[in-house]
Amino acid sequence: MKKLLLDVDTGIDDAIALLLAAKESELVGVTTVNGNTSLDNATVNTLKVLSLIGREDIPVVRGADRPLLRAPHFEARVHGDDGIGGALGDMEPGTPAQGFASDFIIEQAEKHKGELTLVLLAPLTNMALAVRKEPRLKDWLKEVIIMGGAVDTPGNITPKAEFNIFVDPEAAKVVFHSGLPITLIGLDVTEKTLLDEPHVREMSGNAEGEFIREATVQYMNRYEEMTGSRACSMHDPLAVGVALDRSFVRTERLYVDVEADSSLCDGQTVCDFNQVTGHEPNMDVCLGVEGERFIRYLIQSMTR
Ligand code: BDR
Ligand code: CA
Repeated sequence: MKKLLLDVDTGIDDAIALLLAAKESELVGVTTVNGNTSLDNATVNTLKVLSLIGREDIPVVRGADRPLLRAPHFEARVHGDDGIGGALGDMEPGTPAQGFASDFIIEQAEKHKGELTLVLLAPLTNMALAVRKEPRLKDWLKEVIIMGGAVDTPGNITPKAEFNIFVDPEAAKVVFHSGLPITLIGLDVTEKTLLDEPHVREMSGNAEGEFIREATVQYMNRYEEMTGSRACSMHDPLAVGVALDRSFVRTERLYVDVEADSSLCDGQTVCDFNQVTGHEPNMDVCLGVEGERFIRYLIQSMTR
């Protein structure tokens, strides 16, 4: 099994990604960060989701409660006030592990040198703090999969920016220029990876399926308002899917930078498709996806 470490702002799709990673990988730990919801909510939600499937053994470590320089920006319209659409409201969360997320990332990367894949599903604050503190992370980590950005499609929080990058563009800049072995999974592919109500019904019957059914009501409502259809993007689960099996996506090696100094375009991921900047490519960018094949894999995993 592959060794993964997830950084999350749980979040309805983070929660589904967590379930997938806990089932299909050797999950060495989960770090939490401010993003969709507060750090406290994200941490409680993460602990609850892991308890739901009896995986209290996986350490959950708290990280940054705000972006590097900016104010937090929560997304209650998509994820609800608590971050997971009111699901698991009655469950008592466990206790987070001691320590701070960026230190935990460094410690685990050193411990599992050459073997660990980081899957970053939230604003990149924890990771920026980690690479600033330990530049050798780029030599220690096997892969860094980032759910973030939109290189050739509109944004989802502004006309140009995707949420995770928009919330902390300064952190994204640090991470993108760090020399880490990055694969970027943006809206270009996650918006083609849609979970609809028949899919959700297929997963009913166990605790995971029941949770997904309850949590996705809020998510589907928001998608229906935005797109007219009750089908929602599996942003974060796809990133875990790619960490487990790269054949779900087609990638190209490209140079990508982040706009962090514009009133209109902050958080935009600017991709040099035509190599006009002269910069060396700094990441593998996902440009194609077998979305339905991934959704079938997710359903299979949740019902097993
Ligand atoms: C990303 O933003 C969050 O709302 C989701 O959890 C996902 O990580 C999609 O833009
Ligand atoms: Ca997320």
